[in-house]
Amino acid sequence: MLDKTSFAIETHHLAKTFSTQAGVIHLFNDLSLNIQQGESVAIIGQSGAGKSTLLSLLAGLDVPTSGTVKLLETDLSQLSDAERSAWRSENLSFIFQAFHLLPELTALENVQLPLDIRGDKQAAPKAKNLLDKVGLSDRQSHYPAQLSGGEQQRVAIARAFVTTPSILFADEPTGNLDAETGENIITQLFDINAQQATTLVLITHDAALASRCNRQFRLEQGILIEGSTKARQVEPNQEINKGSRVGLAE
Ligand SMILES: Nc1ncnc2c1ncn2[C@@H]1O[C@H](COP(=O)(O)OP(=O)(O)OP(=O)(O)O)[C@@H](O)[C@H]1O
Ligand SMILES: [Mg+2]
Repeated sequence: MLDKTSFAIETHHLAKTFSTQAGVIHLFNDLSLNIQQGESVAIIGQSGAGKSTLLSLLAGLDVPTSGTVKLLETDLSQLSDAERSAWRSENLSFIFQAFHLLPELTALENVQLPLDIRGDKQAAPKAKNLLDKVGLSDRQSHYPAQLSGGEQQRVAIARAFVTTPSILFADEPTGNLDAETGENIITQLFDINAQQATTLVLITHDAALASRCNRQFRLEQGILIEGSTKARQVEPNQEINKGSRVGLAE
């Protein structure tokens, strides 16, 4: 069990560089961010700022060019591929803009899947309970193609929470939904999040959604700026990055 002061996510001096035919992209040079357990954190920023890349680094799905990421005091880079993927499925969940449901499985089977993989004998009742929480108990035998976009995203939310993850990462969870559907879905996401005390890191273009999180950051030119979603100033005494500017190398 981790104590209250431990960080769910602890990063030090992250740098990420992509080499492309057009040149080298220095997305960030020196970015540090610590997130406490149970905190909800929103990251906003323009398209191409590096938000999805940063989320992949925070979730251990991608490796930084330099710097370290620790999740729940574990440095995933020290684990083997098999250990890392087992660790991720035990502790983390993801919600994506494009839902990522398996088309050949029903709503219930999609939600159940992460528990089935673990061999959890309670997979079906747990999955039903989560589908109920997102208001889809009457849709459990429907396939994704038979569900609206909003319903599919609710299935994805149920699937993300069914394993009671320590950390949930969401990349534009309302990006494909109309404003009203997005609002309902966000309410459900935060309701379940509060019940499970999950650490939540989400990327959004939606200032209203960002404002529901405990902390907001704007990723801009390789720098994370903490404050309200409208603020451009660094708040004093906050743990933020000392990043450098993005740009194509000369
Ligand atoms: N594997 C890669 N190889 C080369 N360049 C990449 C790679 N992944 C991302 N990039 C570049 O890094 C930049 C940031 O991409 P990223 O997807 O993180 O942006 P984003 O902030 O999530 O944008 P959006 O809001 O449009 O989703 C982009 O210019 C992108 O082209
Ligand atoms: Mg993105």
